[in-house]
Amino acid sequence: MIFELPVEILGSLTARTLFYPCSGNDIYTPIEAFKSVVTDFWFADFNYTKEPLLKDGSTYQLSERAWEDVGTLRTPRGSASIRKVFHETYHRHLDSGTIRIHRCNGHALDAFEQHIRARGIQLSVFFHRGDSPGEGGSGIYWLDRHLESVLEALEDGGLIVSYHFTLHPSL
Ligand SMILES: C[S@@+](CC[C@H](N)C(=O)[O-])C[C@H]1O[C@@H](n2cnc3c(N)ncnc32)[C@H](O)[C@@H]1O
Repeated sequence: MIFELPVEILGSLTARTLFYPCSGNDIYTPIEAFKSVVTDFWFADFNYTKEPLLKDGSTYQLSERAWEDVGTLRTPRGSASIRKVFHETYHRHLDSGTIRIHRCNGHALDAFEQHIRARGIQLSVFFHRGDSPGEGGSGIYWLDRHLESVLEALEDGGLIVSYHFTLHPSL
């Protein structure tokens, strides 16, 4: 389901960047929801390969792609698991817009530190869903242990898009 946000909320965003850790193949919803205000979509997951995830077709046309060998960089965690970042530029037929997708292959915390925080990139949107403490989830607790860093990276008025649910104790 694609949600629509009020224009007054979207209109205040200027950093034009979204970061989605532990995103897997779930790239369409954030792109569709924020394509009007975001040009750079950063995704981070262990499972990325150089094969693009966004379909090259009638809606988006792939115009450029490159990949970056990041090499060994130190991070506050002491390790740097991000070895490659895949960059793709797409042209949107409908309104001639351009979006760039950056997929970091490796640990999402490293991607956040190396590619967002260390470069001083401000985020309009921090997008995070479908992650969990186990069963393939990262156990990173982005919006608990890392909330301060997330808030620092967000521009004023930037959005955190997530969901949180708890089971009722009686269930
Ligand atoms: C349950 S899937 C959810 C994917 C996506 N968020 C969704 O809603 O469809 C969890 C994803 O987190 C990734 N993951 C787990 N730990 C990670 C970590 N430390 N760094 C990056 N990705 C991680 C897994 O590879 C997997 O693709």
